[in-house]
Amino acid sequence: MNILITGGLGYIGSHVVLCLANKGYNIIIVDNLSNCDISVLENLNQLTNSKLAFEKLDLSVRDQVESFFKNYSNIDGVIHFAALKSVGESVRKPKKYYDNNLYSMLNIIEFMPKAIPFVFSSSCTVYGSVSNQPITESTPHGIAESPYGKTKQICEKIMDKEFHGIKDFKGLSLRYFNPLGAHSSGLIGENPKNTPENLLPYLTQVVSGKREVLTVYGDDYNTRDGTCIRDYIHIIDLAEAHLKAIEYLFKIQDKNFIDYINIGTGSGVSVLELIQTFEKSTGLKVNYKIGKRRPGDIEVAYAETKKAEQILRWKPKYSLSSALNSAWNWENKSLD
Ligand code: NAD
Ligand code: WQD
Repeated sequence: MNILITGGLGYIGSHVVLCLANKGYNIIIVDNLSNCDISVLENLNQLTNSKLAFEKLDLSVRDQVESFFKNYSNIDGVIHFAALKSVGESVRKPKKYYDNNLYSMLNIIEFMPKAIPFVFSSSCTVYGSVSNQPITESTPHGIAESPYGKTKQICEKIMDKEFHGIKDFKGLSLRYFNPLGAHSSGLIGENPKNTPENLLPYLTQVVSGKREVLTVYGDDYNTRDGTCIRDYIHIIDLAEAHLKAIEYLFKIQDKNFIDYINIGTGSGVSVLELIQTFEKSTGLKVNYKIGKRRPGDIEVAYAETKKAEQILRWKPKYSLSSALNSAWNWENKSLD
């Protein structure tokens, strides 16, 4: 089976490439290297003991996508990660996000072979702020916190037949909560090109001395310790969910199919609890201070995970401690 993995040299994509390659799938990676380094390909080749197919192209450019699918007419499934993902940058440069994320989605759906499995990287951000927790998949799209979030909502709409009008389309939208951690080899992991916005890469960079102090954004929320609550999922569990998703779609006989599934642990963890768990698991101190709330932050978000369990037969296996240790192992290796 030939699986196209777009954005396959990025953080999540690289772990999924490894997971599927280890299961015997033939992987074709497409990436424009806008938020990753080509060295990830060498590390993936080393980890898979193979030479993975790679094409550098910009999926938001229609001609490039058209000729890619002419050259690779034997694709059996697509997992689409390629997107810009910085919430802050999307507020400053919304058009850049709409252009990149929406055109990429439209081009792939237009030119990929019909009725093959298509898995989309969506996000819990599509829900906006939700009062009923855990969040179920039937919760409608809320107010997106950013243009980035809006692109995820629109991409989900683009997957709908009413929008694309393609007769045979089989898609699953996976709504990830907060991925973290890295592969145990320390050869692939999250490698933000700019100052990290997300909690864990910032935290590990503070511990490694690259940054001075972690600011906890607000301790006056209506939660057990006043800090925000999220659902942190180990990247290896998340990668496994993609394997289950593509295998599930292969079994679906109906050529017109679409569904939406949360990928999280089902447990909410506060920012202070995450810091304490990191300190306990690694034996290292995190230099942090309490700061002001970050505009746009949601108080609480964690997933209802029954649908993933029932439909994908997937459940997370790894603990938060293990994810935090793996993130630290990755950060530590990058210091060598
Ligand atoms: P990432 O930036 O590490 O990976 C995305 C990859 O896509 C990068 O390697 C980048 O170079 C590539 N890319 C971007 N635009 C492209 C284009 N036009 N053509 C070709 N390649 C392009 O991000 P990630 O954290 O691995 O996220 C992967 C996907 O998961 C994204 O769609 C993201 O929105 C989604 N997601 C991420 C998170 C998270 O917290 N990391 C949470 C929910 C959803
Ligand atoms: C987690 C918690 C912060 C940094 C983002 C996107 C969302 C989705 C997942 C892609 C929050 C707190 C953070 C820091 C802090 N991505 N924090 N100090 O905000 O849940 O979601 O990633 O789809 O769209 O918005 O993740 O890692 O930024 O924050 O206190 O320096 O950590 O306030 O409570 P978030 P995050």
